[in-house]
Amino acid sequence: MNYETLLVEVRERVGLITLNRPQALNALNSQLIAELNQALDRLEADPEVGCLVITGSAKAFAAGADIKEMADKGFPQIYLDDFFAAADRIAARRKPIIAAVAGYALGGGCELALMCDFIYAADTARFGLPELSLGVIPGIGGTQRLTRALGKAKAMELCLTGRQLHAEEAERAGLVARVLPAAELLERTLEAARGIAGKSLPAAMMIKECVNRAEEIGLAEGVRFERRLFHSLFASHDQKEGMQAFVAKRAPNFRHH
Ligand code: CAA
Repeated sequence: MNYETLLVEVRERVGLITLNRPQALNALNSQLIAELNQALDRLEADPEVGCLVITGSAKAFAAGADIKEMADKGFPQIYLDDFFAAADRIAARRKPIIAAVAGYALGGGCELALMCDFIYAADTARFGLPELSLGVIPGIGGTQRLTRALGKAKAMELCLTGRQLHAEEAERAGLVARVLPAAELLERTLEAARGIAGKSLPAAMMIKECVNRAEEIGLAEGVRFERRLFHSLFASHDQKEGMQAFVAKRAPNFRHH
């Protein structure tokens, strides 16, 4: 399938999505969000894909939601359309998604990275939520996910001042899992994704669900939730295979069910 705003390929069980609107620094317009959901639908349905990577260009992961598309909208229209509701589907995916971020990740671009399961950042990456300068607030979960990721003090400062975090500070603050040299970002992210995709897919998806659940519920309920999913994996081929392979001192051959 051909997309106008994305490049999509599958390599060694990894689905790679490259945002591709260079003329607008990958600004997220409705078409890009719709195509991103279509691509994610297809990659999630593909049994030969175990992990996804979303990346942008060297200059911009994405410089925000598309300001030109939004500028003339009025309140009743944007409310009736529930504008950006489609973006919520990105965070609801089952398979692990890594964001490989170089350059600007501003506004909706930062929010898209936050919807992924973790972020690898190039040393050129810059994260920020500049919406207040446009007379609005973040609208794709930025105030919520940034606060959970960084705590109130930093999230409030970043949203109110629009200050950008460079990659090192983003890593220190817990927004980014690793900082990598820009030239190595994609290859090393794909390497991590291949590692995940080679493991048991049901177990990887359950780790994702458990960690995400930790942001929403209390500790005792979270541990109960985790324990039930742990128990359920004993119905999988991959649990038998993973444990038998360990005992037999051989490499496991996961079948992802
Ligand atoms: N929406 C639409 N177009 C954008 C855009 C955006 N978010 N960001 C950049 N572009 C366009 C520019 O208008 C420009 O187009 P033209 O060549 O047609 O003029 C092109 O991309 C290149 O951008 P610049 O010339 O501005 O590049 P630069 O290197 O001088 O500056 C930048 C880079 C600092 C990132 C600057 O482009 C910028 O400030 N962009 C906007 C950042 C922003 O405010 N993002 C938040 C958007 S609102 C949002 O995201 C709401 C939400 O929470 C959902």
